[in-house]
Amino acid sequence: MPLLAIETTCDETAAAVISRERKVLSSVVASQETLHARWRGVVPELASRAHVERIVPVIEEAVRRSGAGREGIEAVAVAIRPGLVGSLLVGLSAAKAIAVARGLPLVGYDHVAAHLYACRLAAAERMRYPCVGLVASGGHTSLFFVRGPLELERLGGTIDDAVGEAFDKAASLLGLGYPGGPAIEAAAKGGDPAAHRLPRPLARDQTTLDMSFSGLKTAIRYRVQPPAAASPRVRSQRETADLAASFQEAAVETVLAKVDLAIERTGAGLVAAGGGVTANTRLREGLARLAERRGVELILPPRELCTDNAAMGAIAWERLERGESDSLELEVVAGTDRRRAAARPAPTAQ
Ligand code: KG4
Ligand code: ZN
Repeated sequence: MPLLAIETTCDETAAAVISRERKVLSSVVASQETLHARWRGVVPELASRAHVERIVPVIEEAVRRSGAGREGIEAVAVAIRPGLVGSLLVGLSAAKAIAVARGLPLVGYDHVAAHLYACRLAAAERMRYPCVGLVASGGHTSLFFVRGPLELERLGGTIDDAVGEAFDKAASLLGLGYPGGPAIEAAAKGGDPAAHRLPRPLARDQTTLDMSFSGLKTAIRYRVQPPAAASPRVRSQRETADLAASFQEAAVETVLAKVDLAIERTGAGLVAAGGGVTANTRLREGLARLAERRGVELILPPRELCTDNAAMGAIAWERLERGESDSLELEVVAGTDRRRAAARPAPTAQ
């Protein structure tokens, strides 16, 4: 019998039903993108309220689409860290209610480890351990030495902003909307990635697997609005495309440089990647080239398994199969809220 997974760490309300064989029987994601677009980032209070409204219909839809029926669910899994505390609490409360009402085991899981587990879902037996794991999303940018689905040793990662957060901020500065990653990727298509030489702090530093993206964000800011300029400059579409392409290049190159170093240092024969930013075509192509050059295998989930979803909650099977579950005292562990909104709303189109 399958398990029901619930995911409300940030701004997606998601539920999925996954069989013991790791087959995704259903996966429902209700995005809050339009709700937060006006604020160019996630507003925590709006996010939790939207989760409260959506959680029950999303779970019911996932159970209905799975064909398993309510009686067919064997366990309840829920992402309990890291994330926005109000958002996490909605998912955990729903999971506890179902577990109590139906007398089912409850399993809390880590959202970041689950992003990498999407590779196991996508690649089945091709997914091998140990490997190098890259998680690049709106809240996290980390490299891991992954000994098993639940054994992640952090090797390095961002020391300031997550790479997805930098995409979101750059898109906001360029007036491209939210979420920024897909908007930058689309705008960059007609642009020249070499038009602007933007900073890649730490990228060439062979002594560390840490990365930094805040300087890149600031650099874009000054290109968009030089400090001396009195009023905002009007940019042509071409100029916007060049800035978007140059930003994307700098962000992607920084990540690739550290993945390369992590392969060299660990000697791992496989790289697994996950998180919203790994949906980016330039990064996917770069990872594929890097893996080929290094002679290692690469596992990249399909795009819908890169961005937040509950199917990756299949990681809970790993604990259930070890005979583990959690008590009803299970608590959330809040984490970064770096994706919080800008202080002011985006100007509305006239
Ligand atoms: O994994 P995710 O859905 O949520 C978090 O756990 O944070 O990642 C969301 C992030 C956002 O910052 C979004 O702009 C970025 O992933 N993203 C992308 C792309 N699609 C989503 N970044 C670059 N290129 C994309 N195509
Ligand atoms: Zn995520």
